[in-house]
Amino acid sequence: MIRAFLFDMDGVLADTEAISVAIGIEYFRTIGVKASYSDFQPNLGAGERAFFDRTALSLGADDKTGYSYDAASLYFRKRYPELVRKAKAALPGAAGLVHMARRSGIMTAVASSAPSWKVRENIEAIGLSAEDFDFIASGDDIKRNKPEKDIYELCLIKLGIDGSEAVVFEDSASGIASGKGAGCHVVSLMTTIDAESAGRAGADAVISDLSAFPAFSSPEEAADALDSISYEEKGVAYGANIIRPGKRRMSDSFTIERMKKAAAKARDNAYAPYSSFKVGAAVLSAATGRIYSGCNMENSSYGATICAERNAITTAVAAEGTVGIDMIAVCSDDDPPSPPCALCLQVLAEFSRPDTLVVLFSVSGKELRYKFSELLPNPFVFPTMRR
Ligand code: THU
Repeated sequence: MIRAFLFDMDGVLADTEAISVAIGIEYFRTIGVKASYSDFQPNLGAGERAFFDRTALSLGADDKTGYSYDAASLYFRKRYPELVRKAKAALPGAAGLVHMARRSGIMTAVASSAPSWKVRENIEAIGLSAEDFDFIASGDDIKRNKPEKDIYELCLIKLGIDGSEAVVFEDSASGIASGKGAGCHVVSLMTTIDAESAGRAGADAVISDLSAFPAFSSPEEAADALDSISYEEKGVAYGANIIRPGKRRMSDSFTIERMKKAAAKARDNAYAPYSSFKVGAAVLSAATGRIYSGCNMENSSYGATICAERNAITTAVAAEGTVGIDMIAVCSDDDPPSPPCALCLQVLAEFSRPDTLVVLFSVSGKELRYKFSELLPNPFVFPTMRR
């Protein structure tokens, strides 16, 4: 039984990173230290002290050069409310999912490493109020920050439930570890981390953002929704990456039709003035269910030609980071329909599983289906990536 949804704040309900960093840069400027976005990046999401102290350390700023955590914190406290209210900080689906949970009789809580005042400012800034949550846990309530399990355990104790009855929504490896440590189901968003890294960190499911959580109207339906997006198994070592299949039925006929349409549409745009052999390809992301397509693109310098399949996977990686491919569709005007060339198979193997479905079809309607491993049984895998 699912009884509560526990939300991390930054990167899950609200996108406040840019605001925090802008104020951080402003603060360091007041003590004559020039800082940039990348100086703060490694120190995000681990609480305010780490945000300032660790960044100061990396910038060579200390009490002798005018740095003081207390002064930085005060500066931040003064600037933040004004800036966060001006910004459009709410992430897609945030208010919608919180309301859907409450309407369905599911408790809600926030579990953020940020100080309490900031968590409350953020809740207002995204158009929600403290009353929308049964409990709000902040960095002020715990000594040990994420990745320790403490903040989620605190939520469970306050709500009087077990970890198995709670769904945690997170966006970082340390947050995922914290939620798993407390025994909760963890759904990772792709707002900050890519799907493969989230899976490796232990997430039970990955969705693009909160708006992608399937709709429900009761705790039972919420459990089904969670189940429908959860990974089925630990994944299969094949190419360089462990691609974990989702529970969605990716190879249903509806999805195959959508994939074929995407590949055929991309083929229409093929740039093939030399060979006149037009190819379109589509790949299906296992984590998000999104389809990415590509066409072949030839060049005066023949060797610079890029095949449709490699263009499709490049687009997928550009959008999602390391992806797992659940299905590949290739459209050509050949009989039998063309398979991906050996070079493309090698490139696709990096992100595929042995049972990734490959649908080859021709414009005249001929179709062949293979498992990826039937086309390339032994992909080359770089020694350090081998498992
Ligand atoms: N081509 C592809 O797009 N995919 C393949 O796997 C085989 C070949 C393209 C590349 C070139 O534009 C044309 O087909 C002839 O080789």
